[in-house]
Amino acid sequence: MLEDTSFAIRPIDQTDEAERWQPIGHVQKIEGKKQIFAFTCERASGKIHFYRDDIVRVTIDPFDQKYVSVSPAVVATPEKVDVHVREEENGWTLQTKQLTVIIERSPFRLAIYDQEGTLLVRDVQPVCFEAKGRMRCTHALAPTDVVYGLGEKTGVLNKRGAVWTMWNTDVYAPHNLETDPLYQSHPYMMVLKNGHAHGIFFDHTYKTTFDLRHESFYTFTSDGGALDYYVFAGPHPKDVLMQYTHLIGRMPLPPKWALGYHQSRYSYETEQEVRELIHTFRTKQIPLDAVYLDIHYMDEYRVFTFDQKRFPHPQSLVQYAKEQGVHIVPIVDPGVKVDAEYETYRNGVQKDYFCKYADGTLYKGDVWPGTSVFPDFLKKKVRKWWGEQHSFYTNIGIEGIWNDMNEPSVFNETKTIDEQVVHDGWKTHRQVHNVYGMMMTEATYYGLKKQLKGKRPFVLTRAGFSGIHRYAAVWTGDNRSFWEHVELSLPMCLNLGVSAVAFCGADVGGFAHDTNGELLVRWTQVGAFFPYFRNHCAIGFARQEPWAFGETYEQIIKRYIELRYEWLPHLYTLCFEANQTGVPMMRPLMMEYPNDEETWNISDQFMIGEQVMVAPIVRPYTKHRIVYFPEGRWIDYWTKERFEGGRRYIVEAPLDRLPIYVKEGAMIAHAKAKLSTFIKDEQLTLYVYTMKEGTSTYTLYDDDGTTFAYEKGEYVHMHIRATFLDDTVYFEVETEGAYEPTWQLRVVFVGDVPSTVVVNGEQRAIEEASIVL
Ligand code: NOJ
Repeated sequence: MLEDTSFAIRPIDQTDEAERWQPIGHVQKIEGKKQIFAFTCERASGKIHFYRDDIVRVTIDPFDQKYVSVSPAVVATPEKVDVHVREEENGWTLQTKQLTVIIERSPFRLAIYDQEGTLLVRDVQPVCFEAKGRMRCTHALAPTDVVYGLGEKTGVLNKRGAVWTMWNTDVYAPHNLETDPLYQSHPYMMVLKNGHAHGIFFDHTYKTTFDLRHESFYTFTSDGGALDYYVFAGPHPKDVLMQYTHLIGRMPLPPKWALGYHQSRYSYETEQEVRELIHTFRTKQIPLDAVYLDIHYMDEYRVFTFDQKRFPHPQSLVQYAKEQGVHIVPIVDPGVKVDAEYETYRNGVQKDYFCKYADGTLYKGDVWPGTSVFPDFLKKKVRKWWGEQHSFYTNIGIEGIWNDMNEPSVFNETKTIDEQVVHDGWKTHRQVHNVYGMMMTEATYYGLKKQLKGKRPFVLTRAGFSGIHRYAAVWTGDNRSFWEHVELSLPMCLNLGVSAVAFCGADVGGFAHDTNGELLVRWTQVGAFFPYFRNHCAIGFARQEPWAFGETYEQIIKRYIELRYEWLPHLYTLCFEANQTGVPMMRPLMMEYPNDEETWNISDQFMIGEQVMVAPIVRPYTKHRIVYFPEGRWIDYWTKERFEGGRRYIVEAPLDRLPIYVKEGAMIAHAKAKLSTFIKDEQLTLYVYTMKEGTSTYTLYDDDGTTFAYEKGEYVHMHIRATFLDDTVYFEVETEGAYEPTWQLRVVFVGDVPSTVVVNGEQRAIEEASIVL
């Protein structure tokens, strides 16, 4: 049974503004060709195009617009879909195995249902266009629906109750709950309706807004272009991610070192300082995989240069760092200093690669180097050229690049490039602003990929658009050393994950403002479980390296950085899952328990994979907190105390404890702590959280961690199935893939040690609560 389709059309606001909005009117004609249904209305034409049984695209173009989308988001092409069509008195019904689209003729309105009859999309106002090319559509939203996604947004996990704007913006002012927009644009939402999830992606590059303030509908507005959206059928939140990332692509596996601990500061200003920093990490035996060079490494902020005085021997610095198991990651901004004696500027001008006004004048704006020009990354040949410039870094052994200021940020009133600037022929900056940063990052990624000859590049970016995860990890920009910002980083990164950006994190310790020992401890604890783990601090503020606040804090911070390395085999396994399915490592609780209403609005706890829950302390002087445990039995990672799920508990969390809980029956692979991912593991430990009765499964993934050989089958996939019965654990182990791991896997039981263990039918002796698989 489909839900009621007699739409209550809301009258359009009776304001002057409203008069300019033109509804598209009645349907006059509809023609179907296999899986594409073209229709003509009084003032627009459109298409319903099925991409798969579970993905449908809706486009509507007003007649007078010759609109060509520049969105780089979608990479999938439609698959063959069988669509069953029925013509009815007032419209058509188009049905696939998973979606039903109802087109009402007079006036044009759409309703989209999933296979169980759950309403996913319904026009509650006609789609309208405005003379200046703006468009809007209004869809039903039930009062109890919960909205996630929208990329990098402040606020809590559930995005309802506010208007959100997509316009990539550099915001240094303290981010607060109403700071919007920020650096990235992800015009995509996941809606949870009574435990059923679906997704909707408005593939618009213009400035767009999502008005989610209303009880029974939301309005999507775009500053230009035709209406272009995709609906994903779900019904599980993970299905939505699989569908969305089928369309816009999935993240490649990062090199393992990108998952280690990273140390940054704006700036480590000399070669000597960087060497001493690495040396201190090593003397103190604190793990470290990367050090960042912020803008001071350059010669007066000219990208693709080193300051001769401060960094006279960059190659030997990179070499020294590598010997210590550390990668050097320099920052690269898009602004190119105007200087006739500077090669990159000269070369770009000669080739006509910088952004210009329609009359041919170069656009110039102020950024760190002073007056600068900006590469036109919308042009393919400019991207290629920019990528090639990176041999400056890769030639001396650099394998990772940090893209910043790529919204692009300009020090002027509008904070960015003039909207009248044109890109790649005649696309205005107004149209392409939101994808500029992503195109820069794409150029960087492919440039590095080519030069690294088979090694995986690492790119970090501040700006991005839907699909950015194909090229880079994302960090949430200029936060501050405020407790509120630890708390804020959770829903921000969780919603980035829901929006397909699986590899993301926030500046640990806080960027601006002075941090303190307690804050740095708590932030490092939770940061160790974010997909991307970097401590970064702004110029002029207290230093925040792990030892900055004395021995007691240092020891706890060190312990949690080590913990990160202990958990790496599991995190890397989850990275592979993200690579295969789009499901992020760090997940809101609702992604594992969509039917448990209690989880829907939890912003301050998260899941790492399916069976581990983290409940960080995000307040000062706090040694306990309330934790919600979903159904099942949970085990405290530290104390081994057990909790019966389906309710809340007050848990103790002294300063050295991050509350972590593992589900009964879970299996989690750990390594020994080590100083860098350069060191290969000889032994991994599979912790088996025993239960009385039941079955659980785990698939451990590993590969060489540096090359793309995994794409050709050079990986190991260990499928482990454990059946717990009568004090016996039966393991079934199957190994797949051509990679020969450097480790052997030892099983350690947590909880009751079974009296008998059987592996693939063979009984095995248990020594010290452990066996080797
Ligand atoms: C702004 C970035 O957000 C910050 O991380 C960086 O340190 C400064 N630019 C200086 O490059």
